[in-house]
Amino acid sequence: MNFENSRSFARMMDKNDSLKSYREKFYYPKNGNNKNVIYFCGNSLGLQPKSVRKYVEKELYVWERDGVIGQHGRWEHFHERLMDNTARLVGAKPSEVVVMNALTVNIHLLLVSFYQPNQKRNKVIIEKGTFPSDQYAIQSQIKFHGFDPTTSLIELSPRKSEKTLRTQDVLDTVSEFNEEISTIILGGVNYYTGQAFDMKSITDSGHQVGAYVGFDLAHAAGNLKMSLHDWNVDFAAWCSYKYLCAGAGAPSGIFIHKTHHDWSGPRFAGWWGHNKNTRFEMESDFDPIQTAEGWQISNAPIMGMVPLLAAMEIFDEAGMDAIRLKSEKLTGLLEFLITANLPEVSIITPENPLERGCQLSLVAPGGEKTFENISKEGVICDWRKPDVIRIAPHPLFNRYIEVYDFVKLLQKSLSE
Ligand SMILES: Cc1ncc(COP(=O)(O)O)c(C=O)c1O
Repeated sequence: MNFENSRSFARMMDKNDSLKSYREKFYYPKNGNNKNVIYFCGNSLGLQPKSVRKYVEKELYVWERDGVIGQHGRWEHFHERLMDNTARLVGAKPSEVVVMNALTVNIHLLLVSFYQPNQKRNKVIIEKGTFPSDQYAIQSQIKFHGFDPTTSLIELSPRKSEKTLRTQDVLDTVSEFNEEISTIILGGVNYYTGQAFDMKSITDSGHQVGAYVGFDLAHAAGNLKMSLHDWNVDFAAWCSYKYLCAGAGAPSGIFIHKTHHDWSGPRFAGWWGHNKNTRFEMESDFDPIQTAEGWQISNAPIMGMVPLLAAMEIFDEAGMDAIRLKSEKLTGLLEFLITANLPEVSIITPENPLERGCQLSLVAPGGEKTFENISKEGVICDWRKPDVIRIAPHPLFNRYIEVYDFVKLLQKSLSE
């Protein structure tokens, strides 16, 4: 796409934007003077869909009116209303996904199944600088099995003087450690650099050495177009409070490939994973549902799921194809304007749109001070130590003109 370095170009992009009406479906934050801010923080917490209140009030009303009767039929099956749309979101079969718990909890539960180390095969591959919660979860899983993270954890690092990983280096590491690898678990998109990994190639290479391959899709769900089923990914989990706009602490989604649905290996069980036909017969033997639902433990957090249902209807209506198309243009314009106007700012996120989502990670002179200055000007983004400002224009509620105005504000701040 050919971009132009002008406000009128950005305005024209907004005018021709097929998703422009979606902004009105969200509450857009304002500053103290009731002026719109520029909200580029959908990678941290997505905005509230206006429809959420109605959806929540409906369930509150059912609870008020029916008490426990609401449980029967309605809430008992509530999570099933999130299976078709979630499957479309991540490129899965409906039976391969379920919404349950929180993200790190799910990473633990998935590793109970997909990390079964033994003396020969006990290594886990992650990216160095993975999100700390993943790092802690994986280290604790390794220790739980009596192994030592200093020898069982392999951390992939970029080459010297490079900021992001080369796919070939990931594949070479997999070949190098070969049958010593039990599990590979990477972020679909790295939270710090914004790099999107080639999930298909990494999954293929892991399978060639007999390892399980999974992804933390916290920064990929609602951001990238994915085909988890076709890529043969073994397992994945994500949160829904970032790009998916389901509200702080909203429940997490998981994916478990169909090939594992007759699982007889280790898993932590609970009554919500038990065969639905006999769940209320209260038998003592666990009879797992033969889908991803078999990994559920507790009954579903309905009030947390309701905002997700409202948000998923918006995502489903817009469709990941259109969302991704706009996202590439929005982030492409951001990259173009920074490169054209701010040579002193470096972008550590890969240039190739296939290797990133909507986020660009910027290293700017002044570092945290520059971040504070643009924040005072009404830009909502975030700072991640040691030196990155993360900017994530969300294709459902951000405009091209905001990208233009942001670059001008950053330019102003850097020239002061
Ligand atoms: C990549 C990644 N993984 C894990 C987490 C932790 O999520 P939770 O607190 O929902 O377990 C986050 C939170 O931002 C994240 O960005």
